[in-house]
Amino acid sequence: RKNSAGLDFSHPQTQTNLSNLLAQDPTFNRAAPMVSGQTFNTDATHLSDKHAKGVTCPANTLKSIGTVVNASPEEVDAAITAAKKAEHAWRNTSAEQRASILEDCANAIEAKRDTFMQLIVHEAGRTISDTLYEIREAVDFLRYYATLARQQFGEAQSLTSPAGESNHYRWMGRGTFACISPWNFPLAIFVGQISAALAAGNCVVAKPAEQTPLTAACAVQTMIAAGIPAEVLHLLPGAGDVGEAMVNHPHISGVAFTGSCATAKRIHQQLSARPGPILPLIAETGGLNTMLVDSSALPEQVVDDVVASAFHSAGQRCSSLRVLYLQNDTAEEIIELIKGAMARLTVGHPQYLSTDIGPVIDSIALQRLESHKNWLKNESTLLATTPISNSLPQGHYFAPMMVEIQQLNQLSEEIFGPILHVIRYNSEDLPKIIDDINNSGYGLTLGIHSRLDQFINTIVTSTHVGNTYINRNMIGATVGVNPFGGCGLSGTGPKAGSPGYLRAFGREHTRTENI
Ligand code: SER
Repeated sequence: RKNSAGLDFSHPQTQTNLSNLLAQDPTFNRAAPMVSGQTFNTDATHLSDKHAKGVTCPANTLKSIGTVVNASPEEVDAAITAAKKAEHAWRNTSAEQRASILEDCANAIEAKRDTFMQLIVHEAGRTISDTLYEIREAVDFLRYYATLARQQFGEAQSLTSPAGESNHYRWMGRGTFACISPWNFPLAIFVGQISAALAAGNCVVAKPAEQTPLTAACAVQTMIAAGIPAEVLHLLPGAGDVGEAMVNHPHISGVAFTGSCATAKRIHQQLSARPGPILPLIAETGGLNTMLVDSSALPEQVVDDVVASAFHSAGQRCSSLRVLYLQNDTAEEIIELIKGAMARLTVGHPQYLSTDIGPVIDSIALQRLESHKNWLKNESTLLATTPISNSLPQGHYFAPMMVEIQQLNQLSEEIFGPILHVIRYNSEDLPKIIDDINNSGYGLTLGIHSRLDQFINTIVTSTHVGNTYINRNMIGATVGVNPFGGCGLSGTGPKAGSPGYLRAFGREHTRTENI
């Protein structure tokens, strides 16, 4: 299995094609509940009624780029009831057949790269390189989980048995999964959850983030056209009320959720309070991610990796760097270099290749960052801010900033945006720093920059995180290469893109027969 191909942005023809493509609004511009392949409420009359909402572009909020109709409680019920009916047939298709359909879906999504480029750039405000990365990740998830289905969910394994008895052991789907995904990877995480559930032999009801229904609707339409049976995969756009109705529905068999820790805990409580079986929750949440740099590290490399980790994607990755620890001996030099790099970042509309940092997703996200910035006025020292042009369109733009704080526990939760907090330290502070990181309760990504094995090994072995990145940036996990996901407040595991992921969507069965 090979990971999907990229694009050469340095090629003039590629640049012209992208510029022409992204100057246009998305051609796919309507989303509505899709239950058993029926797209309800998409006729023009309904889209103009009170249930329809405009989808706006975070980079230019004066612009509506499409329309969404959210799912009603009846549609949630209809989707889950239809999925339940389809469970037996889908679970009993061969793993080979499911894998082959998922590979067709991967090819179909890859073939629609231009459509998804337009959608993700305009609907989620992601930069061109982030968008391309994300489309490739979605394709990689489909192919990777297809491979795992063949390896792990295929024929039953015959086990050593006593005379007169045969024993067979196999993995199979659980039933119907509710997949609830975020806006920061509107295609990759949406497709990642769905494809894992489907590959393992489950039916799926999927709720995309409220902010990014168009990308999700296009993905579901593409996957059904590529061969996923319409009764097996259903789309339910909507806000938290739709997610809640899905989680509380008596016929779901498990939940896959990526988003905030608070919502994951709420889902966990709802699942525990339900009558009936104990259901699995696969949750991937946020992190208060740190990077530790000692004085042996190479400053230029540190700067590149800090800028990418803290500011790319406008800091809206759960993997993004939030707190940078710099050893005193080289801290000043590195801070000066980061300031220089920040001054050269371009904040702008993501449709241009020259843009490094796009907008944040919506006014609520912007408001949260503004209020954290206000709070920082008394709690920190401002080190640098990236300048923003005043000729940008009206959008949710937030200037990347770097501040100095004294200790990690000044921050009680994840700050989801381009704000980097710096803490200077001396080598004797290291044990306390490690305690602070572990005591934060989060455990997603951690970066280390050093040329000393002892420093690296001490940190690797004493911190509780899911992904440790050494002498590189700490974002952009690749499917099957950097299995991704955390522990503690950062999620339940297993890791997306890991050999163990699919099994969380399945159940085991042993067949013992007297012969
Ligand atoms: N998987 C993404 C990354 O590694 C975060 O969700 O950046």
